[in-house]
Amino acid sequence: MNLEGKEIAQKHQKYILQSWSKAGGEVLPIEKAKGIYFWDYDGKKYADMASLLVCSNLGHELPEIVEAIKKQANQMCFMAPAYASEPKSELAELLIEAAGADDYSRVLFTNAGADANENAIKMARMFTGRNKIFSCYRSYHGATLGASNASGDWRRFAAELGGAGGFVKFMNPHMYRDGFHKGVDDAAVTKKALADLDLQLRYEGTQNVAAILMESIVGANGVILPPDGYMEGVRALCDKYGILMICDEVMAGFFRTGKWFGWQNFDMKPDMITFAKGVTCGYVPLGGVIVNKAIGAYFEENVMQCGLTYSGHTLACAAGVAAVNYYKEHNIKGHVEKMHKILVTFMDEMVEKHKCIGEARCIGLFGALEVVKNKETREPMQEYGVPGEGMPWIFAELKKRGFATFGRENFIEICPPLIITEDELNEYLPILDEVLTLADEKFCK
Ligand SMILES: Cc1ncc(COP(=O)(O)O)c(C=O)c1O
Repeated sequence: MNLEGKEIAQKHQKYILQSWSKAGGEVLPIEKAKGIYFWDYDGKKYADMASLLVCSNLGHELPEIVEAIKKQANQMCFMAPAYASEPKSELAELLIEAAGADDYSRVLFTNAGADANENAIKMARMFTGRNKIFSCYRSYHGATLGASNASGDWRRFAAELGGAGGFVKFMNPHMYRDGFHKGVDDAAVTKKALADLDLQLRYEGTQNVAAILMESIVGANGVILPPDGYMEGVRALCDKYGILMICDEVMAGFFRTGKWFGWQNFDMKPDMITFAKGVTCGYVPLGGVIVNKAIGAYFEENVMQCGLTYSGHTLACAAGVAAVNYYKEHNIKGHVEKMHKILVTFMDEMVEKHKCIGEARCIGLFGALEVVKNKETREPMQEYGVPGEGMPWIFAELKKRGFATFGRENFIEICPPLIITEDELNEYLPILDEVLTLADEKFCK
């Protein structure tokens, strides 16, 4: 690493408290980014095959977003939430159109994904007068106190130390990990999962349940595709008991799954939609909650006890308008459909070819390969919550070869920027193939 890079890394190691890690560990300083790539201080190029944290949907330094930010910065960087501003008004309208203006009416802008969920939870409680929030074990909803409590994976434990009332978890189906076959066992799995959820709701007292909060497609816990009919069934349970359904679209939104929002892949509509990441592709942080007409009307009659200094931040909304217009004007939907075919063909090949790949899951450009030690028993490369050497080794080997992505105990996420080209896919996917061949030898039975 050159001197400048070394110094940046050293200061980071010395001063930064690192997300979800012990402080002071090794860190790679990054100098610049463009398109699907970023570069370290030695000039080494990395293909961003996870869109950073599945947020850079339109890649890095897209001129249209950068120029919109510059233009807005020259005019007015920020105006307080009580005032109207052009980018905020415009983005709100664009988002309502994307969700469906027949059903959705208003937006609360937040700073990112966690506080979007946090505020959706508060609104659900105000609207229903009920307390409990149901959410899935296999989920992540953010790191603020309420969003953490709603999250299912281990990242909620610190938030639970002080105790926060009203959060109830249920086990959402994961067909492969639960020993089933997607496309074969869906009906039976859906029936059992919905019956269990119905019973659990009754045990908790359906009159106490404000909302069921779910990622439309579970992202950071492994791109888990629900069995057919499951999301529609959860919606039906919500209707049966007067419970609100909140879809967390923070990761799945903005054409990651090929649609504006992940729930649009199913035959159901949530009451609230939370979003962040792809709305600005991370150029400036922004999140929010889109509410349906009933909730919108409720807050015309009742004071909404939610607010943030930077709600509808002017610069962030300007980035959002530019990103949303880019999705529309450049037919990102059509491009994702084409690139999906290439990615899914490759991923299916990996299942055929490698001992260490048990399943491929992909919707749009939202993909994960399930990594196993033994294909027959489906023994994961690492058990949930148990450290191991297999997955860190795979991620390190990929990074060495300029393939940047992340994952967890038993999956590799493949979620490139939605603007990735066929040539770029064909150049970088073979690197993954090469590393999986080495992993077969090293770790598989
Ligand atoms: C589904 C989902 N919800 C919420 C969040 C939290 O968003 P943020 O980190 O912007 O607060 C994330 C972050 O990865 C996420 O994947």
